[in-house]
Amino acid sequence: MARPTLLQTRSLPEAVEARAARDYAIRRPEGPDRVLESAALLRAAEGCDGILCAAGDGLDAATVAALPASVRIVATFSVGTDHIALDAARARGIPVTNTPDVLSVATAEIAMLLILMCARRAGEAERLLRAREWKGWAPTQLMGVTLEGKRLGILGMGRIGRALARMARGMGMEVHYRNRARLSPEEEEGATFHGEDGAFLAACDVLSMHIPGGEATRHWLGAARIAQLPRGAIVVNTGRGTTVDDAALCEALRSGHLRAAGLDVFTGEPAIFEGYHSAPNVTLLPHLGSATVETRDAMGFRCLDNLDALLIHGAEPPHRVA
Ligand code: DGY
Repeated sequence: MARPTLLQTRSLPEAVEARAARDYAIRRPEGPDRVLESAALLRAAEGCDGILCAAGDGLDAATVAALPASVRIVATFSVGTDHIALDAARARGIPVTNTPDVLSVATAEIAMLLILMCARRAGEAERLLRAREWKGWAPTQLMGVTLEGKRLGILGMGRIGRALARMARGMGMEVHYRNRARLSPEEEEGATFHGEDGAFLAACDVLSMHIPGGEATRHWLGAARIAQLPRGAIVVNTGRGTTVDDAALCEALRSGHLRAAGLDVFTGEPAIFEGYHSAPNVTLLPHLGSATVETRDAMGFRCLDNLDALLIHGAEPPHRVA
């Protein structure tokens, strides 16, 4: 039997590519390895049975509506699905799958890394050394804040948020969270649930954001909510850049209302809001949340498990989101 044809939009880890090439006829878009715009994606998808795409690929409503009739499934190499018009996929009857669970710890590690870097001013300190400007140890140089005993507020207590909560507890932080629904006592593991934004924000010495992108969460953290954070709070975002109003965050960092921010995700990636470039108290990472060898392999295999289920075994994909 002929192997199904798969449009693979991006280069993937070696072991994932090897398994994909064994079971599918692989189609790759022309040109360099980068986010695929709608027109190029539609051209490349012609005659394909499935699409293995990644975060940022242009699968808006018009593109999904125009996908060739041959396309029977879209598997995204990400847990986030804000780059795919899920309603349009449902309307076309095209299942969409993602990669939950396998990236939770890796992403929580990046959130904790940013929290530590912000609290201890590690980015500023490293830039000082690289600029050859360090004059030697001094009692008042680059003083940060101790995390032990501080309150960590987790916005979005899904798998990533819960992995971060476990790490934070190990460091002696008090965990608070805001979520659509309260977790069970076993899942809460002693964290304090907040049913409304004001009390939650007031309890954040550090706010770590883990909510999905999309219109419903656009600029969730804007001037009004920033003002409800305690003076000197730290903000970290490893979810999606669109959930933060960049201008408002920059202003709060400039005025001193916020101590620092750590960002792994940005609106309009790979572009970055201009104000961040010159803000000394911002730590910037290039969307590294899931970037470990173990995690990226596991994400790729999860995509292939979903594709195999439908295209090879005629079964329901295990991680279907639409
Ligand atoms: C995800 O899986 O959603 C990560 O942000 C990578 O895109």
